[in-house]
Amino acid sequence: MAQNYQMLEEFFASGPVSPLQFIPDPFPEPVPIRLFLKRDDLLHPLVSGNKWRKLKYNLLEARKLGFETLLSYGGAYSNHIHALAAAGRLLGFRTIGIIRGEDPGDRASTTLRFAREQGMELQFISREAYRGKSDAAFREALSARYGPFYELPEGGTNAFALPGVAEGVAEISRQLGASPDYLCVAAGTGGTLAGLVAGASPATQVLGFSVLKGGTFLSAEVSCLTGTDQFRLFPDYHFGGYARTTPELLAFIRGFEARTGVRLEQVYTGKMLYGLYDLAKKGIFAPGSTVVALHTGGLQGRDPALDSPS
Ligand SMILES: Cc1ncc(COP(=O)(O)O)c(C=O)c1O
Repeated sequence: MAQNYQMLEEFFASGPVSPLQFIPDPFPEPVPIRLFLKRDDLLHPLVSGNKWRKLKYNLLEARKLGFETLLSYGGAYSNHIHALAAAGRLLGFRTIGIIRGEDPGDRASTTLRFAREQGMELQFISREAYRGKSDAAFREALSARYGPFYELPEGGTNAFALPGVAEGVAEISRQLGASPDYLCVAAGTGGTLAGLVAGASPATQVLGFSVLKGGTFLSAEVSCLTGTDQFRLFPDYHFGGYARTTPELLAFIRGFEARTGVRLEQVYTGKMLYGLYDLAKKGIFAPGSTVVALHTGGLQGRDPALDSPS
């Protein structure tokens, strides 16, 4: 059922506060930090993690402007497409997903099958057309086909994505009773990192871990979104590139899960935690500091290989 603006505001305001979980023995080798995981993976069963936070003010804006339809972009395994489809169904928006690549027919990914089940209309376009998706002719064709729509960029990263993520930082400070010394997050498009930077106090160092090969460009994106360069981006924990893994990464994730009972996935949070662990071993964090790592969800993309012994 379509919800009006006020209902939507109340829906988000009544949302849960995700737990801040202390990780008592985070590392096989002792390191002198206090590690916490902000469990945004537990925010909502379908719209989990950073998606909930990045979508919040976008959906409010769409409703305020009177749009009934949300349109966005992504690949066949996009967590953003998955979350947008679920949020649209939950909150009464029509959703359109413009998907990069050939129509896979019966062999659609579970992400795309889920999106369809939620009622999302999918349009597949070639990689070349996808690269030209901001061209005027392409946009006119979209409008002619779908009518007026509120557009979210790939990954949902825009200025409206930041305040929802920044609210999470305020939550963390309330839960800790102080600002953390460090906040750590995986970076794909950089929107979540930008939101942390926007919400962090000057006492907190914000660290982003690129999950993309060649992700140094993300620094400029985050600076552009936030107007500051008060953060650090670590570009070398990508394990071969987006969605690539190595036996070492999978072994790390299995070990972390076994010690903590927290499920991870290998595309984002697993890589970030590996990086955090590595930096801790190298002594990057001041002894005694409080480090909060954001669990950004995405468990729908968890590699089933993580459930079998290596
Ligand atoms: C589970 C998960 N974590 C982290 C990220 C990275 O977020 P961002 O694209 O805002 O950098 C994404 C991607 O969008 C994601 O799906």
